[in-house]
Amino acid sequence: MKVCVLGAAGGIGQPLSLLLKLQLPAGSSLSLYDVAPFTPGVAVDLSHIPTDVKVSGFVGDDVEAAMQDADVVVIPAGVPRKPGMTRDDLFNVNAGIVRNLIGVGAKACPKACFAIVTNPVNSTVPIAAEVLKAAGVYDKRKLFGVTTLDVIRSITFVAEAAGKSVDDVRVDVIGGHSGVTILPLLSSIAGVELSKAQIEALTPRIQEAGTEVVEAKAGAGSATLSMAQAAARFIGSLVSALNGKSVTECCYVQIGEDSRSFHAQPVVLGRNGVESIPALPALSDYEQQLLDDMRATLDGNISKGIEFANS
Ligand SMILES: NC(=O)c1ccc[n+]([C@@H]2O[C@H](COP(=O)([O-])OP(=O)(O)OC[C@H]3O[C@@H](n4cnc5c(N)ncnc54)[C@H](O)[C@@H]3O)[C@@H](O)[C@H]2O)c1
Repeated sequence: MKVCVLGAAGGIGQPLSLLLKLQLPAGSSLSLYDVAPFTPGVAVDLSHIPTDVKVSGFVGDDVEAAMQDADVVVIPAGVPRKPGMTRDDLFNVNAGIVRNLIGVGAKACPKACFAIVTNPVNSTVPIAAEVLKAAGVYDKRKLFGVTTLDVIRSITFVAEAAGKSVDDVRVDVIGGHSGVTILPLLSSIAGVELSKAQIEALTPRIQEAGTEVVEAKAGAGSATLSMAQAAARFIGSLVSALNGKSVTECCYVQIGEDSRSFHAQPVVLGRNGVESIPALPALSDYEQQLLDDMRATLDGNISKGIEFANS
């Protein structure tokens, strides 16, 4: 299995690469690319850790070589938020970065699974889909927006509120990956009964948890360590699935034939990426209202991405 990290020298990219070096199956290779000139040094540094995962570093014009024949490409390249910014404020810079990197991937590894971390995920994933379509290599089973950070935050906050171990809590998060489009399904958590007041306090906290980090970092960026762990969890599940073990993870994918039907929800991953998309559990009235209310925002984010890619 060849896994390629684009943006590997960044705040997310470095700890993500470390976690992948530690957790990928023996015999895998890890290909690190970033525009930062010290990226080969990150690769040399990681290569001294004794695991059976071969690490190589690429910089500058070598992006195509970095991606050549990759099975999985994960993209945390781009600029992060500063206090006062929404994820959508990142659009102008990050949209172009994702468009260019996916354009190279369409040639270098057209059959790869592409996992996008770069925000705003609600828009960058539709951009990637349009670029892959234009190159004639789009497979909706193999393109993902990484929303796992919303899941791991939900697990942490729910376990704390319910007095449970995090190991006993599983939370699905649906919708998208920005503000009101993040919808944790707190009414149907197995083994956890939250009160209406707890649900109505936890839901906005989970939606705005990224802003908690951005403000606490006071201008130095957004979530990096928890995000690296989230992406490592998602990529670990994806690699297991590609190796034949079905795994269910929440992620942002095209869920129907309509090219605008991007949605985050639990998805069964298998040998070819998305294997099936189970029906959502019954939603509470509160969750259904939030799902209805987010529609216009999510549709707007998707359209913005599609229009950018085709402009
Ligand atoms: N999906 C999520 O849940 C989630 C959570 C947090 C952050 N993010 C997003 O992840 C992205 C990265 O965040 P970060 O904190 O690591 O930022 P960072 O600035 O620390 O790192 C970004 C890296 O991308 C590199 N880069 C820029 N342009 C590039 C290009 N064209 N090709 C390759 N590399 C390039 C930079 O050199 C840098 O090393 C941001 O867009 C951020 O909003 C997503």
